[in-house]
Formats: sequence, C-alpha cells, structure tokens
Amino acid sequence: MNQISSGVSSKSSRFFEMKRRGEKIAMLTAYDYPTARAEAAAGVDVILVGDSVGTNILGYKSEQEVTLADIAHHVRAVRRGAPETVILADLPYRTYDTPEQAVASARMLREAGADLVKFEGPRPAIAAALVAAGIGVCGHLGLEPQHHLEKRLKGRSAQEAKSLLANARALDAAGISMLVLELIPEEVAATVTRAIKAPTIGIGAGRLTDGQVLVICDMLGFTPANFRHNRRYHNVGPLLDAATADYVKEVREGRFPAEANLFHMPEEELSIFTGDAA
Ligand code: KIV
Repeated sequence: MNQISSGVSSKSSRFFEMKRRGEKIAMLTAYDYPTARAEAAAGVDVILVGDSVGTNILGYKSEQEVTLADIAHHVRAVRRGAPETVILADLPYRTYDTPEQAVASARMLREAGADLVKFEGPRPAIAAALVAAGIGVCGHLGLEPQHHLEKRLKGRSAQEAKSLLANARALDAAGISMLVLELIPEEVAATVTRAIKAPTIGIGAGRLTDGQVLVICDMLGFTPANFRHNRRYHNVGPLLDAATADYVKEVREGRFPAEANLFHMPEEELSIFTGDAA
C-alpha cells in the first residue's frame, strides 16, 4: 500500500515530492496559538506539537510525564493558530504500547486537529497498524527522548549505525510518511536518507537529511542551556527577563500606567458623578 492510495494523507504526499526534488522541509515545534500563527506566516512546512512541551512549557522533569490530554490541548491551540499548516503530534510515552492503543491514542490527536502522529523507536508493527487505520505516521530514531534518559549521541559505532539503518528500513516498509532522526552522526543520517523512501527530518543529524526540525524554545533562546545541534536565531530569554523586571519596577515606582495608558470620563459625566458621590 503506498502513501497516496492508502489515503493516509494527501498532505504528506507533498513531502515525498519535496524529497524527490531535493527541496528541504522546514519543521519547527509550537505549542500555542501565537507561535503557531508566526510559524504559519513564516511558511513552516510542518508544525510539530512535540512532547518537548513537557520540559519546555509545562515544567515537567521529563518527557515521560506528558499525557495524551496535554498533547491534545496544545494541538487544539496550534490548529487555531495555523489552520492550513500540516500538524504533526507526538504520541506520548506509554500511549502506543500495543497497535490497538496506538490507533486509539492517534485518533484522539487527530480529533484535536493533528494531521500525522509521531512515535519513538523501532516499532514497525505500530507504524503498520496506524497506516492501516488511515493515520499518517512519522517515525523517530536515534536519540529517543521518551526512552533514553541520558541525552547522548546515538549511532556512533558501526554496529549501532547498522541497526539504526535496519530499523529505518523496517519503518519505511511499514509505510511511514516521515522519519525524525535525532542526535546521530551526519554520515549515518545521510545513509538512512538515501536508503528510505520517506523524507527524513534531522535534529542534530547534520546537513544531509531531507529537512530539519528544532525546538522553538531552543531556537529562540528561551532554554537556559544551549546545545551544539541548535542555533539561536534570537536570544529572547534575556529580553523576557528584562521586560518583566522593568514592568515590576515601574509598577512599584508608580510609573506604569502613564497618561497614555488610561481613560478619562467626559467632563460633564464626571461632574454629575462626583456631585452625586459627594
Ligand atoms: O518533542 C519534540 O520536540 C521532538 C523533537 C526533538 C524532534 O520530538
């Protein structure tokens, strides 16, 4: 069954075409309405509502705490901000233990507004079940944040690289529409990209994947630590700190609000009001 005849998603067939033409796919995470609006306006190809929402936005200690209800809530906000953009939603930890559970979980995210779902690990049977249910799937290999608590490079040894390639091929044969490759050497990502039909999207996987994804909080400089794989396109974190501190100071000093920020009653209404109040 191929991607188009299965009816999985005519939206994702566009990405196979981009791969064929050598056009890079730009994916970025978003978790809320204003960010989704900005990303849609910038022409982002795919918005990922990732389980990175847990540690970046919800204050959780790990991706494992993220629930299906969390992802559905954020998918709804992102869909309102980006009605036309392809939305990929993460299936959270332990929500795809069996093919039946994966399909039920994915349906919930589809109802919230996601076009495709992503799950981590070499689980071709899960991918096949989702595809058979008409749900577009993105695989995720290399570093799997839900399963690898130590965040380190994967696929460094020839043996690890070979098994990653075999896993990618198995997911591809199961009908995935995309494959995220996280934190692996460029050489391995390039080999996988050439070996499979589905477009590959790299994060810390070098330059030769079919597309790239970054976590918006890292890319904007909200995350205190910077990572080698990341590029900060702005450093918004310090701006947020400075603006908040200025506001607190001005409120305390009586400098906010100023004349420009307030409203007055018409004179005649004021005299009636103050006369009555006297
Ligand atoms: O949750 C997420 O943001 C992700 C990216 C790291 C690819 O899965």
